[in-house]
Parts: sequence; C-alpha cells; structure tokens
Amino acid sequence: MRAAWIERYGPPETVEIRDLPMPEPGEGQVLLRMRACSVNASDVELVTGRPAYARLFGLTRPRFHVLGSDVAGVVEAAGPGASRFAVGDAVFGDVFESFGGFADYAAVPEDRLIAKPDALDFATAAALPQAGVIALQALRDLGAGVRVLINGAGGGMGSFALQIAKARGAHVTAVDRAAKAGFLRALGADRVIDCAAQDFTALGERWDLVLDLFATRGMGAIRGALAPGGRYLLVGGRMRALLSVLTLGTLMSFGPRKLRLLAARQSRDDLAEIAALVAAGRVRAAVDRTYPLEETAQALARVAEGRALGKVVVVMGGNA
Ligand SMILES: NC(=O)c1ccc[n+]([C@@H]2O[C@H](COP(=O)([O-])OP(=O)(O)OC[C@H]3O[C@@H](n4cnc5c(N)ncnc54)[C@H](OP(=O)(O)O)[C@@H]3O)[C@@H](O)[C@H]2O)c1
Repeated sequence: MRAAWIERYGPPETVEIRDLPMPEPGEGQVLLRMRACSVNASDVELVTGRPAYARLFGLTRPRFHVLGSDVAGVVEAAGPGASRFAVGDAVFGDVFESFGGFADYAAVPEDRLIAKPDALDFATAAALPQAGVIALQALRDLGAGVRVLINGAGGGMGSFALQIAKARGAHVTAVDRAAKAGFLRALGADRVIDCAAQDFTALGERWDLVLDLFATRGMGAIRGALAPGGRYLLVGGRMRALLSVLTLGTLMSFGPRKLRLLAARQSRDDLAEIAALVAAGRVRAAVDRTYPLEETAQALARVAEGRALGKVVVVMGGNA
C-alpha cells in the first residue's frame, strides 16, 4: 500500500510516497481502507519539528513516519478484541496517539472512531475531528451576547469556532491575515481585525472570551484585553506564549480573569455533536481544497504556507 512517509524533520516537500506493507490491526484496532484524512497544523509541526514542543515525540528524528490523525474510511478488518464495527462500516475519528492516516490503509484504535453519518461525505467527515471537537470544547459554556475574540480565526479550528460562537449568539471579532477577511465575514464574523496591521491587545478594548489559536503574546498584554470576569483560552502558538500562560497566566488566574491552556480531550460524544451540527447545516466544514494521496506534501505545504482557508483534506481513491 502507498503511504506518505517522513524520514527526518524538514519542510513538507521532504515527505515522499512509499510502498509499505499492509498494517495489521492489533488489539482493539480496526484496519481502515482510508478515504480521507485532513491536515492539521499539528501534522505540519510534526513534519518540520517546529515549534520545539513538536519534538516531544522524538527529539532528533520523528517518532511517527506516517502522519495524519483525522481519519475517515471503511472498516476492512477487525483486530483481536475489536467488536464495535462490522466490516464495511463507514467511520471517522481522531487517532492522534497513533497517526498513520496519510496512507491507503491504517490500523487505528476502534474506540477513537464513530459511525460516519450518511449526510457527510468522507472529506467533510475527515475535516471535523481535531478542529471541530476542540472548537466545541472551547465554546461549550458560551452564552448569547458574549463578546468573543478568536485569534487565528481563519485556520482549521478557527473556522469551526467562529461559526459555533455565532450559532450560540456571541458577538465575534475574528483576527487573522488580511487575505482571509472575506472568508471570515462569510463565516459570520461581526468584525475582522488584520493581525499584521493591528494588535488586538493594544486597542484599549475588552472581550469576555479570547480564544487564541495562534498565541504570540505574553499574558500581561492578554490580561489587558479581557473584561472583568473574562477568560483567555490558549490552544496553540509560539513557545514563549505557551510558557507565559503556564507561569504568569496561572498566577494571574487567582484574580477575576482566568487564563489557561486548553488541551483537546478525546470525546466520541463531542465528535458526534459537531458532526450533527454539520449534517444539519448549522455549521459548515470549510474545506479549502482536497489533494490526492500522492500530493500529501503539497497539502501539508498549503497549510504550512498559510494559504488555506479552513481545512485541507487528502483523499484516497478518487472523490471522497
Ligand atoms: N491544545 C490542544 O489540545 C491542541 C490540539 C491540536 C492542535 N493544537 C494547536 O492549535 C493550533 C491551531 O490549529 P489549527 O489547525 O487551527 O491551525 P491553522 O489551521 O494553521 O490556523 C492558524 C491560523 O492562525 C493564522 N495566523 C498566523 N499568524 C497569525 C498571527 N500572528 N495572528 C493571528 N493569526 C495568525 C494562520 O494564518 P496563516 O495560515 O496564513 O499562517 C491560520 O489562519 C496549532 O498550533 C495546533 O498545533 C492544539
């Protein structure tokens, strides 16, 4: 079978297509005939080995040679003890602990998967797991009328978060590059800020929730952008910002404002919830482009170079 292979850390063009033996499903795993696998910023980070936390999995060489964790496909076989699905079932899910999705076949834990609703094609289903679930978890308790700022709103997670916040009745300020302004407005943003032209922490304005998907600032600056009782959730970004929230953010959270890291929690229920929202047409999976498996390097490059509007998806075996 074919797979997109990374031998060592480097730019996306170092990813090459190799012929590999068919994976064997182990205990609690199923073998999927892959139909689609979306690209996450985390795939790009694990290809390039940057930022530094991407090397927690492998300091000098990648631990995972075949990336891709947002999988959608058809169950081809079940390993020992795997009984939740039958051969031929269409399923999807987040297999972040094992990866292997950028391939014709992948052996993945069955407890990370749910049945794919008929209303979703495979490419749409593959766009949902990581980005859709974390967006849902970040905005779980949002009330109507709340002022939300989403930094990095035009990326994979941001495109879901923006729509979910709007669906909950929030007033949403979306921050990203100027080229994405039209896209952000089309997703429902009430206001758009060009991150290159304006620093949202220097505007003298306050938000009830700042969801930071591309954190670059220290917690001192962030605190000034939070209304009393406001919350700051950091999902991804530069090392310095991550360290700042872990140290200063923790100290500052003893006051009326709360600043913390948000780590994704694996949840089949949350995945089913975002899938139902998309199937019902209440949230759109913004699929920027699809690429065939042979062009996985180009798919990763599109995300790495910041050209994607929403999600990029690799599809196997023709249209997904
Ligand atoms: N906490 C967790 O559990 C968890 C789990 C998985 C992933 N993550 C992390 O979450 C982050 C977001 O993931 P994603 O898939 O949504 O990434 P993404 O698709 O790359 O989205 C990030 C967005 O931020 C934009 N951006 C770049 N520079 C910016 C700046 N200075 N200010 C504001 N926006 C800027 C990007 O624009 P360009 O594309 O034009 O650069 C892009 O639109 C990643 O760092 C990922 O590693 C966290």
